[in-house]
Amino acid sequence: TEAYELVIVSNRLPVDRVVDESGQASWRPSPGGLVTALQPVMRAEDGVWVGWAGVADEEIEPFEADGINILPVALSEQELQEYYEGFSNDTLWPLYHDVIAQPSYHREWWESYVQVNRRFADAAAGAAAHGAVVWVHDYQLQLVPAMLREVRPDLVIGFFNHIPFPPYGIYSQLPWRRQIIDGLLGADVIGFQRVADAGNFSRAVRRLKGYETRGPIIEVPIDSDDPEAGSHRHVTTNRHGGLVRTVLARAFPISIDAEQYQSLARRPDIRARAAEIREELGNPETIMLGVDRLDYTKGIGHRLKAFGELLRDGRIDVEDVTLVQVASPSRERVETYRQLRDEIELTVGRINGDYATLGHTAVAYLHHGYPREEMVALYLAADVMLVTALRDGMNLVAKEYVATRVDEDGVLVLSEFAGASDELRQALLINPHDIEGLKDTILQAIAMPKRDRVRRMRALRKKVLTNDVARWSASFLDALTRSAHGDHPLQ
Ligand code: G6P
Repeated sequence: TEAYELVIVSNRLPVDRVVDESGQASWRPSPGGLVTALQPVMRAEDGVWVGWAGVADEEIEPFEADGINILPVALSEQELQEYYEGFSNDTLWPLYHDVIAQPSYHREWWESYVQVNRRFADAAAGAAAHGAVVWVHDYQLQLVPAMLREVRPDLVIGFFNHIPFPPYGIYSQLPWRRQIIDGLLGADVIGFQRVADAGNFSRAVRRLKGYETRGPIIEVPIDSDDPEAGSHRHVTTNRHGGLVRTVLARAFPISIDAEQYQSLARRPDIRARAAEIREELGNPETIMLGVDRLDYTKGIGHRLKAFGELLRDGRIDVEDVTLVQVASPSRERVETYRQLRDEIELTVGRINGDYATLGHTAVAYLHHGYPREEMVALYLAADVMLVTALRDGMNLVAKEYVATRVDEDGVLVLSEFAGASDELRQALLINPHDIEGLKDTILQAIAMPKRDRVRRMRALRKKVLTNDVARWSASFLDALTRSAHGDHPLQ
């Protein structure tokens, strides 16, 4: 088998295998921000992507998709339930998102998580050339860095956490809190979305492991008989004269391929589609838009509550304002997600039942994922974009909206609990728990004079166009290569 210089490891591959009723299999782009962010990097490098194809009990041979080499990792139906739906999405996901939903702790799920992480580590170890760079992604695979280091100490290992890292008081609930930290510290560089996430991680390392930190550098003690002790790679002595391996843990805020959104936004057929969307909605004065995976972290219920109350109190009229809510299906076998879907659909039905007229819908609710072209048309059609997440690692939808608005118009309402709010300061920042504040801000967005809209959007666009995904991956990979030469950049 081939050996690659760059190995990307993530739970989900950039393509999902779909099998239709007749048993015919095909591939389609998979959902989520990670894929969006990494696809351009992989197209540019000769590397391999190790991940799961999205279906259980299927052994799939390595293949190439869209110019990307793919090495599929198989999961059994039981592993899908215990490692993916269980530990990843019913333990870690709610725990890392401020326990918005109650995490479930099950020992069998943990065992499955260890077993599957081992399989990903073995697959990556088998694909990596000597001294290769391996970049591991996200909360589903936090044990992979240490597992990899153990079998392949020659590798340069990076880890990026796409979701928040919780404050110590929350993280410390996790029965396997030390094992996860040991797993992550197998990496040379650990990246987070926000400065606050990196701080939470360092604090957890100090309190749970007693390791010392110097700014973004974590000092992991090693024994003198450790094979790494002889390597020059970031092994040094600490202020007590002990031997330590240094790990860099800091923020690398992720982004999007902004240029791609801009060029889609300029395409005549997509502009025509945006105009058509307005028509189809009955030409309301204001179109508001929400775009989310149907997830309880996204604050869709809070958004609907604010909108419903504004209609109820006559502060907005259903003839003037329509809310389009795209809620793409996600993790549908996990109970919390089923409940959320029921709740949201009940609320949408109530709002429409109470306030819609025959000619005017209040909420146009779409439980589908759409191709990028259609999303760009929607962004272009939306006067106000509502991102009201209760907690979100970054939120790429906010950046996509900004990149799309080549006309420098449109108002972004953005939760301060989304990582994107660290950079996108010229959005209308809100606390989604504060329903009165959210309502006032929605009205402010609707009424904002064009001059102010343009001033804000210009500033936002500058940020998003400069800090695009190419810059993100380059700066992460740069930190990683420098660390391979024993040189941890301090900033
Ligand atoms: C978030 C996570 C990704 C995940 C995506 C879709 O963006 O950070 O790791 O792939 O959601 O979720 P799913 O469970 O369908 O992979």
